[in-house]
Amino acid sequence: MSNIILGIESSCDDTSAAIIKDGILLSNVIASQSVHEEYGGVVPELASRAHQQNIVPVVDTAIKRAGIEKSDLSAIAFTRGPGLLGSLLVGTSFAKGLSLGLRIPIVDVNHLHGHVLSHFIRREENDVVPEYPFICLLISGGNSQIILVKDYNNMEVLGQTIDDAAGEAFDKCAKVMGLPYPGGPHIDRLAAEGDANRFKFSKPHIPGLNYSFSGLKTSFLYTLRDAKKLDPDFIENNKADLAASLQRTIIEILIDKLKKAVDQTGVKTVAIGGGVSANSGVRQAIADFCDKRGLKAFIPERAFTTDNAAMVAIAGYYKYLAGDFCHYDAVPYARVTI
Ligand code: KG4
Repeated sequence: MSNIILGIESSCDDTSAAIIKDGILLSNVIASQSVHEEYGGVVPELASRAHQQNIVPVVDTAIKRAGIEKSDLSAIAFTRGPGLLGSLLVGTSFAKGLSLGLRIPIVDVNHLHGHVLSHFIRREENDVVPEYPFICLLISGGNSQIILVKDYNNMEVLGQTIDDAAGEAFDKCAKVMGLPYPGGPHIDRLAAEGDANRFKFSKPHIPGLNYSFSGLKTSFLYTLRDAKKLDPDFIENNKADLAASLQRTIIEILIDKLKKAVDQTGVKTVAIGGGVSANSGVRQAIADFCDKRGLKAFIPERAFTTDNAAMVAIAGYYKYLAGDFCHYDAVPYARVTI
């Protein structure tokens, strides 16, 4: 008999539902929330209200697109955390309600596990997936972690940011440049036309495998502030070079620690995940690094880099196979690492 999992993701500002059948993705529907644009960041209360509006049609569409019936489902996987509590509550409550109605189990998923396991989403039987152990560089708006992945439920954080995440560095610097939120994709676009070696920004000197991005942010801020005193149009006239130089510096910081982690662990496979892994420069740099070192690189489809339910469904699928179900008294959690 087939194992069919409905995945539900509602941790931040995307309502998403996906269906995975025996490890193969049948559908992945995402409703993004434009309501936050005018505020320059996600407004939690508005996010949870939008999830409430979106969740029924999104789940319904995912089931229809997969060509299945509700009664075919084996289990419901949902993101339990980390994320915005009000948003998580919508997905969690919906999953519980539907599972009671259908008399099928629920499986709780750590959103970060989902990002890591997104590399196991297959569209076809023969799609190649990573072999354990591998290193996953998880880079998003809230996290920058180097994770040693030993199994689908056995992950060790080798290093993580001690201040800002890589995505925050992109977003905060972009904000100083007057770019809309989130700034990461705008920096990516501008960087393609700029001279990456034009400006130098400071890089951290932190021992071990931890990251720090707040010094870079400060150095970026001071460069712009000083230059604007001499030329009020400095940002406008140099935005591509600023974006390219910023992106290069972030990539160098990321790769520097990744290299150390690969040397320490001797792994043969490197994967990336999280919103920042959509960045063209990051993707190219990881591919080049792995190529040079004879490592296998797993770079996710762009659709699986940001929040999506396909990754929740695949993480839930493995937990389901292991009989690792969740109780109905489980409540969402705002913070947790791997
Ligand atoms: O994983 P994610 O969707 O959720 C959070 O952790 O919040 O990551 C969002 C982050 C934001 O900081 C956004 O600017 C960044 O991912 N991001 C990018 C790109 N696309 C998204 N950063 C750089 N280049 C991109 N193309």
